[in-house]
Amino acid sequence: MKSPIPCLCAIALTIFFIFSVVAQPQAAFQSGTDNAAQWTTFARPIKRVAVIGAGPSGLQAATHLLAANLTVRLFERAPAPGGKWFYTDETPVREQYPETEESPIPEKIPENFPATQYYTEGEGSISLEERWREHWNPRPMWSDLLANSPSEATKLPGIEYPPDAPCLVSVHDVQRNVRAYASLHGLNTNDNPASTSESPLFPPITSYATRVEAIRKSKPNASGSKTETWTLTLRRLSWLRESNRLKAEWWEEEFDAVVVATGIYTKAKIPEIKGIGNWSKAVEDGKYSIYHAQSFRNPKRYAGKTVLIVGSFISGTYISRSIAPYVDKLLISARPNRHHDAYGLDIMLHVPTQTEIVPEISSFEPLEHASVGIKAGIIHLLNGSAISGIDEIIFATGYHTETFLPELVNPRTLDSLHWTGHYIDDPTLAYAGILDDPWRHGDYVGHGYANVWTGKARLPSREQMWREMRSGRYDFGTPLDILKQEGLRRLYITWLNSESLELGGKLEYISHQDWVNFDNLPMSEWPRDGNLSRRVVSW
Ligand SMILES: Cc1cc2nc3c(=O)[nH]c(=O)nc-3n(C[C@H](O)[C@H](O)[C@H](O)COP(=O)(O)OP(=O)(O)OC[C@H]3O[C@@H](n4cnc5c(N)ncnc54)[C@H](O)[C@@H]3O)c2cc1C
Ligand SMILES: *[C@@H]1O[C@H](CO)[C@@H](O)[C@H](O)[C@H]1NC(C)=O
Ligand SMILES: *[C@@H]1O[C@H](CO)[C@@H](O)[C@H](O)[C@H]1NC(C)=O
Ligand SMILES: *[C@@H]1O[C@H](CO)[C@@H](O)[C@H](O)[C@H]1NC(C)=O
Ligand SMILES: *[C@@H]1O[C@H](CO)[C@@H](O)[C@H](O)[C@H]1NC(C)=O
Ligand SMILES: *[C@@H]1O[C@H](CO)[C@@H](O)[C@H](O)[C@H]1NC(C)=O
Repeated sequence: MKSPIPCLCAIALTIFFIFSVVAQPQAAFQSGTDNAAQWTTFARPIKRVAVIGAGPSGLQAATHLLAANLTVRLFERAPAPGGKWFYTDETPVREQYPETEESPIPEKIPENFPATQYYTEGEGSISLEERWREHWNPRPMWSDLLANSPSEATKLPGIEYPPDAPCLVSVHDVQRNVRAYASLHGLNTNDNPASTSESPLFPPITSYATRVEAIRKSKPNASGSKTETWTLTLRRLSWLRESNRLKAEWWEEEFDAVVVATGIYTKAKIPEIKGIGNWSKAVEDGKYSIYHAQSFRNPKRYAGKTVLIVGSFISGTYISRSIAPYVDKLLISARPNRHHDAYGLDIMLHVPTQTEIVPEISSFEPLEHASVGIKAGIIHLLNGSAISGIDEIIFATGYHTETFLPELVNPRTLDSLHWTGHYIDDPTLAYAGILDDPWRHGDYVGHGYANVWTGKARLPSREQMWREMRSGRYDFGTPLDILKQEGLRRLYITWLNSESLELGGKLEYISHQDWVNFDNLPMSEWPRDGNLSRRVVSW
């Protein structure tokens, strides 16, 4: 019998296809004018560019910037590339109940650079292993996760899955895809933290296990010359296994431009429920009974237990299916009519039939003992009833979409970003992977940054970028809005190509006859895949 997966995939593809047909972007960029004031100019040539984050977005940005002969430094807090797809058994430092803004392991940035700091086991009651995990933040992925996007749309340019690959590929195969892309472009020649020797053959573009701690725009220096640059404060952590210590190196580097590709879904969201702090401290056999989904790794942990999953969105329903074969009893606390993911494909999101769906939690009654788990505890539900007998709770309650430099870019509205991802008030700063799907658009986005900063594509004036942003015409939604995002893709292709024609860049994405007159072309006559170059086919 055929597995049902390709069939789901066909549904997904059909829906994506329908979306792509109904999308109605209004491509309108400026071209063909000689009025220099109409365009953004940069006070100094862009030579050195920092990319923050080696996930799908950052790797593609770095690749394009390197191809444009810019000096690139890629900083990644994890010890290897992959972004969210860098699966490990290691879990993040446990989230705090209730939520706080503070880091569980606060660090003081030194006053002078470079600086070196050593940590020993148990220093400040913190284990080395916990310091290490806090530094790089292990990913919220689990071992039997399958991508919820078709493999055709979950890969990087030039790295194919085998033709007989299933439609929904595993987290491990997506990880391989991203890692292979990093290798292809020489971005992980130094991702093995054990090999610290310098190589004359492979200069280290990427600095792994290196977290960007702060970023600021330096003012012109005393001599008054126009030298405004971005200064990044960096912290690299490495293990000194011999002496069982961790070494933190702090330093600063200067850049003309910065790409922020630090990803979204960075911080676990914990609902404010009365009594949650009390329950979160309960342990059984030295183990906590309550975790956020970001720490879920292996379903076998839940064998023979009664498990309550809170939240029925993507993570909650996926985890329910992962653990269902192992658990004794499974409950999901859900809001009514919320069995829809962002794609509206509820068929992919069914919870297992034996799941008991219960209303939202109103409160946790304080536990009498902190060392015997939560089984005897009583959970009050919104409809007035109560449940007990739960061994473990998984909060699949989502993530905060925090942005890097939230003081510049409001993570909720993103309203200071142009559709190209440039920060409007200072386009030497740009964001990748926030406005755009990292797989299908990451390539254009990276290309756009490289072209803008080497003079092969122009941005409108600051005033015009604000006008475009406020007009609402360039609202292409989030990476999950497939419908609107199709429009962004078309806009990118047209903009990059027409700017290249004007300024001598390469025409990469589409043949000449296909994009000419694109502005006036009704959507129904937009080129089909067969007419696009290979790079565009993977919608
Ligand atoms: C559970 C889960 C399932 C998902 N499933 C899918 C799916 O099926 N299909 C899909 O298309 N998408 C899925 N996603 C979305 C996923 O985020 C994207 O696929 C993709 O990883 C985004 O790429 P990115 O490069 O923009 O960001 P990320 O992959 O998040 O990469 C950002 C990188 O920046 C680094 N970084 C952050 N801050 C700093 C700092 N201060 N200094 C240095 N480095 C830093 C991080 O360590 C990370 O490596 C899923 C996400 C989650 C959480
Ligand atoms: C980058 O430099 C190389 C070697 O000097 C040169 O061959 C290539 O054309 C340059 N690429 C661009 C985009 O300028
Ligand atoms: C200011 O910056 C310029 C250019 O980097 C440099 O040559 C000059 O020495 C700097 N002056 C001072 C006082 O730091
Ligand atoms: C409340 O929800 C629980 C769990 O679904 C159910 O068993 C119970 O009958 C409901 N109570 C009321 C009063 O609706
Ligand atoms: C929960 O609260 C009760 C009552 O205030 C207290 O006795 C108990 O120790 C608390 N349990 C935990 C795990 O903090
Ligand atoms: C490209 O499009 C034209 C019509 O616009 C069509 O005649 C031609 O067959 C297409 N080419 C391919 C390879 O599909």
